[in-house]
Amino acid sequence: MAISHRLGSLSNSGWDGLTLEKTSKMKHLSHRFCIAPMMDWTDRHCRMFHRQLSRHALLYTEMVTAEAVIHGKRERLLGFSSREHPIALQLGGAEPQRLAEAASIGEAFGYDEINLNVGCPSDRVQEGRFGACLMAEPDLVAGCVAAMQARVEIPVTVKCRIGIDDQDAEADFQRFIETVAEAGCRTFIVHARKAWLRGLSPKENREVPPLDYARVYRLKAARPDLEIIVNGGIETLEACDIHLQHVDGVMLGRAAYHDPYVLAEVDRRYFDSAAAVPSRADALTGMLEYAEAHIAHGGRLSNITRHVLGLYHGRPRGRLFRRHLSERAVRPDAGVDVLKDALALAEGGAHMERQGAAAAE
Ligand SMILES: Cc1cc2nc3c(=O)[nH]c(=O)nc-3n(C[C@H](O)[C@H](O)[C@H](O)COP(=O)(O)O)c2cc1C
Repeated sequence: MAISHRLGSLSNSGWDGLTLEKTSKMKHLSHRFCIAPMMDWTDRHCRMFHRQLSRHALLYTEMVTAEAVIHGKRERLLGFSSREHPIALQLGGAEPQRLAEAASIGEAFGYDEINLNVGCPSDRVQEGRFGACLMAEPDLVAGCVAAMQARVEIPVTVKCRIGIDDQDAEADFQRFIETVAEAGCRTFIVHARKAWLRGLSPKENREVPPLDYARVYRLKAARPDLEIIVNGGIETLEACDIHLQHVDGVMLGRAAYHDPYVLAEVDRRYFDSAAAVPSRADALTGMLEYAEAHIAHGGRLSNITRHVLGLYHGRPRGRLFRRHLSERAVRPDAGVDVLKDALALAEGGAHMERQGAAAAE
């Protein structure tokens, strides 16, 4: 993936009164419950599966660099099903005009929001001088946001950390937010831990630096006009309830991926939905047609099933389900029957009996 090393100047970023005017025209997109962007995990198949469990959670793509969007195979990188809405495209980059172009391409693809990654600490991203190291360059981030907003009608949001390395003072974090907010960004998703850019791997950077939710809460208290979403280490809806007493939204990453059934109650709890809570079997049944079409187009069943392995997490037959899919779905000729059999195994036959009864009625 090509990474741009060029840094754009603020003067041609399109940062003017227009951006603020635009924000007031944007359609409202709820960030009350979001599923985090996760590289290699939240691809379109994963998002489609999560969508079976929640109609309203805001979904994020994996990060795609602006250069990849501009030069890469767009359909493969950006294509998604209309059933995935509401969905945000996360971009990586640090060059205002390149990001603006990528944002405009994303908007044309139908995304509901463009999100800028200011939180990823990987070496590859640091070489490109974007991701978390941008926390040290609030003016540049403001320029990037302004340039993107000047080109698109959809919201442009930022996902960041509470700081990096020695940048410890709360004042640094608040200055970052103030500067970027002044450029017109109304929504910030904050991973409530610092990133240590030297000495920790990206994985360690999601675990080692301590969580500091209070800092995110204080930001919301200081700037009630901004929409603040908290992220990092949130595992249950009970924990979400507590965060939502302080901020506007929550974002779950690993918990939603490893234990996706946590999403089943999200619509009723956070979006006033009266729809029935989907069962695990509903979620899988909802994927059958999709999987069939994917295979018919030359895809592998395992491209999809790798994301559903955690569905029966903590359930008595969860291991059987997982093992069946891990062993069978990877075979080159695996068809949807493998998924149906895994479902029957996990439900202990009860699901098939129910289906049989329904057919007999
Ligand atoms: C496998 C993996 C890939 C990730 N990729 C991205 C990414 O592309 N962009 C991003 O902003 N954050 C990325 N993250 C970070 C998550 O979005 C999230 O901020 C982090 O995992 C903390 O939330 P959690 O504790 O709920 O998982 C990734 C996390 C994981 C586990």
